Amino acid sequence: MVEKVEEVRKGFEKALAEVQDGEGLEALRIRFLGRKNGLLTTILHNLKILSPEERRVAGADANRLKKEIEIRLESLENTLKGKEKEEVSLDLTLPGPEIRTGHLHPLTLVSQDMVGFFERLGFQFQEGPEIETEYYNFDALNTPADHPARDLHDTFYLSPGVLLRSHTSPVQIRVMEKEKPPVRMVTLGRCYRRDALDASHSPVFHQFEGLMVEKGTNFTHLKGIITYFLEYIFPFSSQTRFTPAFFPFTEPSAEVSISCSNCQGKGCSSCGHTGFLEILGCGMVHPKVLQKVGYNPAEITGFAFGMGVERIAMIKYGIPDIRLFYENDIRFLHQFREIVGV
Ligand code: PHE
Repeated sequence: MVEKVEEVRKGFEKALAEVQDGEGLEALRIRFLGRKNGLLTTILHNLKILSPEERRVAGADANRLKKEIEIRLESLENTLKGKEKEEVSLDLTLPGPEIRTGHLHPLTLVSQDMVGFFERLGFQFQEGPEIETEYYNFDALNTPADHPARDLHDTFYLSPGVLLRSHTSPVQIRVMEKEKPPVRMVTLGRCYRRDALDASHSPVFHQFEGLMVEKGTNFTHLKGIITYFLEYIFPFSSQTRFTPAFFPFTEPSAEVSISCSNCQGKGCSSCGHTGFLEILGCGMVHPKVLQKVGYNPAEITGFAFGMGVERIAMIKYGIPDIRLFYENDIRFLHQFREIVGV
């Protein structure tokens, strides 16, 4: 009997070396440990015909082999599983892992959209410096010496007479000084104000500004173009509202709002219960401003408008906090991937 056990051990060793896959492994298990005719099972079964003395020796031997076979089968099973996994990860027909590509920032998207709209209407893109003189930022824009915006608490002064521009309107002056009418221009860039950072204010922000100066330009042109623009940028809003306002460099001036798409103009918490969201400031260029750049206000008229880029993007995309634009949290930015179409 002891020899028989040895024979089975050898047979198992040989057969084990030939196993290629899970199926072969299962066949091997059945061949040696199968309940009915397993080679070792049969031996264990036949132990009972032996004398007690022989049974003790052969029984111990056979049981040791059974344990051994079980361990070897399990270890081979694990090896085969590992191999299978390796084969799966090497499957060249599977799609590769997603590579996250970069895309435009939401502020860039809105900026390009706005500038593009006016370029198609014949407006030219112009740029101006972020470090400005008090003359371009205030004086040339008919802003009186005691105007509160000039206050040290509102504007960042770098040295007497030199400051970080508080709006993009000085670009109007720089362009008109350089060019003869007709002028149709837009500009966009960073502006600075001494505001504490909170959900709706940032000391650094962006403005978008436009100017059209040409013989015969009147308020109807301003109203028509602004309405056309707002319908394009906010296609979900049903109404545009012009209300009287004041800016030193335009007369008359207006503030323009769109109906709140959240409550359809009925009033809710996102529009401060007014039913409208303020979007921009605009007006007919003040005669004194035209005079300052050497244009004749009796001959030439024009309109100008300006707005915060962040505010436009926040309303357009339903962004609740201005700080999200600057924190570069990839989870926030990645949401705009669809809009860019990458
Ligand atoms: N510059 C103004 C502001 O910063 C906006 C504006 C621009 C108003 C042009 C009228 C005309 O609030």
